[in-house]
Amino acid sequence: MIPKNLLPLFGVLPLAAGVAFPLASFVPSPNNFPAKADGDYAGGIFSIPLSELGKYAAGGTGTGAETPKGTGTKTSGSGPYPAQMIQDSSLPGHTIFAPKTPPAGNLSMPFIAWGNGACTLGVGTYENFLKEIASYGYVIAADGSPSGSSSAQSTVQMMRDSVDWASAGKAAKYGNVDISSITTAGHSCGGLEAYSTAYHDDRVKRIMLFDIAIFQDDRRYLLKEIKVPVAYIIGGKNDMGYPTSAKDYAALNAGLPKLRINLDTGHGGTFSATNGGKFGKAAVAYLEWQWRNNATAKAIILDPTSPSSLVKDNWTVESAYWPA
Ligand SMILES: *[C@@H]1O[C@H](CO)[C@@H](O)[C@H](O)[C@H]1NC(C)=O
Ligand SMILES: *[C@@H]1O[C@H](CO)[C@@H](O)[C@H](O)[C@H]1NC(C)=O
Ligand SMILES: *[C@@H]1O[C@H](CO)[C@@H](O)[C@H](O)[C@H]1NC(C)=O
Repeated sequence: MIPKNLLPLFGVLPLAAGVAFPLASFVPSPNNFPAKADGDYAGGIFSIPLSELGKYAAGGTGTGAETPKGTGTKTSGSGPYPAQMIQDSSLPGHTIFAPKTPPAGNLSMPFIAWGNGACTLGVGTYENFLKEIASYGYVIAADGSPSGSSSAQSTVQMMRDSVDWASAGKAAKYGNVDISSITTAGHSCGGLEAYSTAYHDDRVKRIMLFDIAIFQDDRRYLLKEIKVPVAYIIGGKNDMGYPTSAKDYAALNAGLPKLRINLDTGHGGTFSATNGGKFGKAAVAYLEWQWRNNATAKAIILDPTSPSSLVKDNWTVESAYWPA
């Protein structure tokens, strides 16, 4: 027999009787960095169980002056490569957003793994926003299906499955997907899933969190293991992600490039507005700057005087440590 105090070290342990011993629950403490961040519930160890939302985020679900009025029009995105939303049997349980035809000139396309708000399996809410990004020459694999369950939740492994799928070359039918340019991203719980997927996985080179950051102060030490630039796209003071993203932004490793932008939308952002609204524009500009070194896009984010800067769109912008 293994002494009782050693049991937690063994995780799933096949006992003589053939019964699997359950993996020990994650207990935060300053030196506890588990190998993987999958944890005990949706969103992984950077997240909370949905049942604790009221405890952590009471009052953080309001709207703001920039909240869209009604749902926008469905388009193929405003970018040069009209985009589609489709399901692909080579990645079950997910939905792909990509240009309808591979862009001419063998354009190199960065890859994004996406997680939904509340970690639901329904990605339909994000159709306008994700098509907008894809139309600029990006391939995205999102958890869930367009009309999927709004109560069942994704796992961190589902987002990792997207990264595995692209890394194995299975996105090649959509064009020239650059698997050295992988971003994990998501809204609310999906953003925390993006942290958890990127944790200890050096295939992931950027992380984008929408309207969210770590809820529990005693888990923020986990950010020591986040080694790639992080962008927080937040909905202003009525968003549950507002105070927490300020704390995460401050707690990231010294010198790590970072961005935190706020628009007064509350927690819901502008995802379902036509072409994803102002969140769509900001996300495209950030990605174009990061992955294509697009100077116009960089200026939209960082230079308040540029003709279509985020600041002129009413965003508040904080950033640090970006190379010149
Ligand atoms: C497209 O570019 C990739 C490298 O970025 C290369 O491996 C591939 O052979 C190219 N395909 C075509 C059809 O030129
Ligand atoms: C550069 O980024 C801007 C803003 O996101 C975009 O509209 C434009 O198409 C990009 N230019 C190129 C050459 O990709
Ligand atoms: C900025 O906010 C003000 C006040 O809500 C609004 O009137 C204006 O149209 C907004 N500007 C843009 C570019 O959306």
